[in-house]
Amino acid sequence: MEQSAPAQEAQMVSMPEYPADGERIGALVYFSSQSENTARFVANCHLQEEGIDVFRIPVRPHEPPLNVREPYILMVPTYGGGSARKAVLPQIKRFLNDPANRAGIRGVIASGNTNFGEAFCMAGDIVSQKCKVPFLYYFELMGTKEDETKVRQGVLDFFRNHPE
Ligand SMILES: Cc1cc2nc3c(=O)[nH]c(=O)nc-3n(C[C@H](O)[C@H](O)[C@H](O)COP(=O)(O)O)c2cc1C
Repeated sequence: MEQSAPAQEAQMVSMPEYPADGERIGALVYFSSQSENTARFVANCHLQEEGIDVFRIPVRPHEPPLNVREPYILMVPTYGGGSARKAVLPQIKRFLNDPANRAGIRGVIASGNTNFGEAFCMAGDIVSQKCKVPFLYYFELMGTKEDETKVRQGVLDFFRNHPE
């Protein structure tokens, strides 16, 4: 039996890794490689307790693609070892190259390692320019307690000031 277009669309939407508790006010989409620095940072922020859906971009190519259909802030670590061309990983590019995913991006948060000097958190500059969204915050490796507090409050304030 053929499905109607809305049913197909509903089937495609991915489930959050951490669904918002109670009323949903916004979303965060993040990538983290096998070193899991960003994943640990996100887990420590407990954004779902504040009404934020948290989605993770798949690490491996054979995993089903992530399909997000709500406004979100993207959080990405920087890769590329100083090269701007490689600073944004292919998994993140793949996610953003889907026009339906790209339509939801509202801002970017980047992480990195200060050892990379000028290229520190460069992925944030690149995504901000390409997607024409503000570069909201940056932090190093798995962040500090202060970074967690600032990101938690900053994400909340952002969605309160940009309701959709
Ligand atoms: C191969 C490689 C290249 C990296 N290149 C950069 C870089 O150009 N700029 C930067 O700020 N950090 C760079 N980093 C540091 C990562 O962004 C940092 O370790 C981050 O916390 C990794 O997050 P993840 O563990 O969630 O993947 C690089 C790390 C690796 C392993």
